[in-house]
Parts: sequence; C-alpha cells; structure tokens
Amino acid sequence: MTSPAALEHVLPPELLRDWEALSARWQAGPLSEWLTLLPEQFTAGLSPARYGDLPRWRDALASLPPLPTADIQLNTARVGVSGTASSETMEALRDALMGLHPWRKGPFELCGLHIDTEWRSDWKWDRLADAVAPLEGRRVLDVGCGNGYHCWRMLGSGAAEVVGIDPTPLFVLQFKAVQHYLQQPCIHVLPMTLEAMPEHLPVFDTVFSMGVLYHRRDPMEHLMSLKHKLAPEGQLVLETLVIEGDDDALLEPKGRYARMGNVWQLPSPGLTARWIKQAGFSEIEIVDVGDTSLEEQRRTPWMTFHSLEEFLNPSDHTLTIEGFPAPRRAILTAYRT
Ligand SMILES: C[S@@+](CC[C@H](N)C(=O)[O-])C[C@H]1O[C@@H](n2cnc3c(N)ncnc32)[C@H](O)[C@@H]1O
Repeated sequence: MTSPAALEHVLPPELLRDWEALSARWQAGPLSEWLTLLPEQFTAGLSPARYGDLPRWRDALASLPPLPTADIQLNTARVGVSGTASSETMEALRDALMGLHPWRKGPFELCGLHIDTEWRSDWKWDRLADAVAPLEGRRVLDVGCGNGYHCWRMLGSGAAEVVGIDPTPLFVLQFKAVQHYLQQPCIHVLPMTLEAMPEHLPVFDTVFSMGVLYHRRDPMEHLMSLKHKLAPEGQLVLETLVIEGDDDALLEPKGRYARMGNVWQLPSPGLTARWIKQAGFSEIEIVDVGDTSLEEQRRTPWMTFHSLEEFLNPSDHTLTIEGFPAPRRAILTAYRT
C-alpha cells in the first residue's frame, strides 16, 4: 500500500482530502479492504492521460472564488448554501462553474446563483423519499450517482455516511465544486464503477442504483453486485427505464435508444421485480412508475446540448426518435434477507 506521504505526489489534488478523511474513518473497520485500493482507483479514475479535458476542469475548480457562505441547505429542492456576495464575485463563480458545463443533475444554489440543471433531480427524490427506510445513522452507497445531487439529499435525510461512485470525471469534479462550499465531512463521490469496488463488501445499510441498470449488459450481475454491498436487512432502492407490459415484457433495443448508445434492456416493472427476486431480495415493491416529462428533463443555460425534446419523435412524443416507447421510469425497493 502506498504510504500517505507518497500519496501527495500520486493522488489528484481533488481526491487527497477524500483519502485523508476516508483513511481516518475506514482504517480499522470493514471498509479497510476498499481503502487499500483507493489510491490506484483515484489515479485511474481521474487520469489526465485518459481524460483530455481534465486540466481544463481542474482549472475551473481552482478558480472558484471564496464566498461568504451562511446556511447550508440539503433538504430543499435546490441543494446549496445561502450568502450574499458582490456582483464581481458572483460573476467569477458563474464563470468557474460554467467551466464544468454540462450540468445534468441538480438543481443547486450557491449564494443565490441558481444552477438550473438539465434534470429536475429533486422530482425523482420526491417520488422515492417516502419509500426509503429512514436514513438516520445509516451508511449509504449511491451507485452511478452522477454529480452527487441525490447523495446530498441522503445526507440531508440524516445518513451518517454517504459514498457515491461514478466513473464520469466531470461529474466527480462538479461534486467537488459544491463540496468546496458545503464542506461536509461524511459525503464523498469517488471516480469509479461498481465493478471496480471489492465484490463482497456487505457494509452498506442502503444501496441506491438509479439510472444504471439499463446501461449494464447483464442486469442480473448488476443486481447481485448491489446485493453484495448490502448489510443483512439492508435496503435496495433501484430506479431504471421500463416499458409498459406484462411481467414478461422486455425491450432490447438494437442500436440506439433515445439517442443513447449503451441501453441494453428495458423490462416491464413486473419483470424488473422478478429479476430482483431472482437475485435473492425479498419484500419487493414497485413504488412509482411514470413517463419522463419535458419539464423534468430539458435544455437549460447550464446544459445547452440536446435534451429529451430532441430525443423524441417530433410529431409523436409517445415515441423516441428511433420509434421505441418514450422514456418511462420505475422505482422499486427491496431488502437483503
Ligand atoms: C442516468 S445517470 C443517473 C444519475 C443519478 N443516479 C440519477 O438517478 O439522477 C447514470 C450514471 O451512471 C454512471 N454509470 C454508468 N455505468 C456505471 C457503472 N458501471 N458503475 C457506476 N456508475 C455507472 C454514469 O456515469 C452516469 O453518471
């Protein structure tokens, strides 16, 4: 294992503080096995050789101005911090954050600056919050957490520790930008896939996987891997794209789905529940099913690329541009027995 002193020269600066905080907390506990892998995972996950835009994103992060922050808000739609700053400071803040465009998940608000993201991720949180076993004091894993918007909501709901993982470096740096001002010690977004984690790590009380299952070629492998991260009696919260239909209905799009190239399987909610059961979970509930609206996913000044409207058939919004049923999503919960 690399010594802490040597890590200063090895680790991306954004992650050195994660390493220090996690080392202090995990060293003597069940997560120590993962701890030993983190330096390598961090350097691979934020490698400038692999991600050519990283230096530009790092510059954006480094140019965040000091803000006179006051109250932190984690339990409101707009996660962030209150405070009043000069117009020059606010302009510098806006420029720095725009250097991390596109902002997909949110919204956030920093000293009155509203980061109006592509997704109203707070709507998803509102749909699932009542179905989540109380998070007070729990250790939570959010797989495919994007920039960590929902991780903040989990912390706001009382979780003792929230660990988000996501392999997209830009999203990790967006999390860092928010954390730069919120400074919460028990929340981390780490640059890696679920598959890179130690397979058997049954230490999380709640595991979220939202918007990831359809990106995996083998859904059963994903569900088993989620189960292996849950402590006994722990809760799984799964959100995924679905289609209408009976318990056998399954769409396997050949080619793209809503312009996405890596969508493998869209089951019905009933089939999703059956998969979860086959993976060995119990008390499975379909909590919510609904179509994604043009109000929930849309182009904004903080995400200026194409969004849902351009992914749908212009003359029939019940279909994608490729002719498949338009995006519909389900939330399910289950328990590890
Ligand atoms: C559709 S987004 C969902 C983000 C967030 N969970 C939400 O529900 O709003 C899917 C995310 O999963 C991440 N992802 C893709 N494959 C993954 C994997 N194998 N392990 C972990 N995350 C993955 C992507 O980088 C992306 O940020």
